[in-house]
Amino acid sequence: MMIENVLKQLHTPDVKMEFFENIGSTNSYLKERALLGADDKTVVIANSQSAGKGTKGRAFISDKGGVYISLLTRADFSEFEPTLITPLTAVAVSDSITQISGRHPKIKWVNDIYLDSKKVCGILCETVFIPGETIPFVVVGIGVNLSKPKDGFKKEIEDIATYVFEEETEEIKEKFVALLIDNFFKYFSEIKEKTFLEKYRSNSLLLGKKIFLINGDSKTEATAVEIDDSCHLVVGFFDGKQKALCSGDVTIKFE
Ligand code: BTN
Repeated sequence: MMIENVLKQLHTPDVKMEFFENIGSTNSYLKERALLGADDKTVVIANSQSAGKGTKGRAFISDKGGVYISLLTRADFSEFEPTLITPLTAVAVSDSITQISGRHPKIKWVNDIYLDSKKVCGILCETVFIPGETIPFVVVGIGVNLSKPKDGFKKEIEDIATYVFEEETEEIKEKFVALLIDNFFKYFSEIKEKTFLEKYRSNSLLLGKKIFLINGDSKTEATAVEIDDSCHLVVGFFDGKQKALCSGDVTIKFE
């Protein structure tokens, strides 16, 4: 991938980009760079990762065929709810997939993107508070399976993962990355107005569906009722009671 070709297509000013054919984790690398003073809007992109990180401390398989990207934002958290960054990113990814392919992904609350009932993208936002500084930074990590891996997906994920394109070209990848960066920073600049929220709701995979809340060994059936203004998932139980879930509260499975 040629960074110049991405920069040429970008509308967002002041983006600084670094590209790696392979890296351990773009998130870990960008966090280190941020601690050393990297600028707001620094973006790191890789074609593959050897130690990709997922949510809940899991590994994220990051073979060639995907695009792995981390974006740095330094933001004043007193001005908005930081928990909105992950849902906002999900809408930016979903818009970019639609713009590049004409396909319409669904968002599985809170941070997974699905195509045809299989996962096509995961998001991991990491916030770092620096002692003595009022403005923390956030590294937003996005892993998208843009095309079918040459030898197929690894066994562990072959039944649950999918891709956007059968095959992709360098041009498609460069265009996709430019769209993603522009969409992310546009929605981020409008975070106080929550301009992403309507799409977050209308593209939801779970709303109206029967779901299962998994917490350790317990499994509770519920219905996904609504996504509130703070992006909590409101679920309803058999007894008529409702509860607003925060991300990380439970694991959700759907039928
Ligand atoms: C998940 O689905 O569990 C979240 C996966 C997040 C993966 C991305 S790929 C780019 C960035 N670097 C990482 O090590 N992880 C994130």
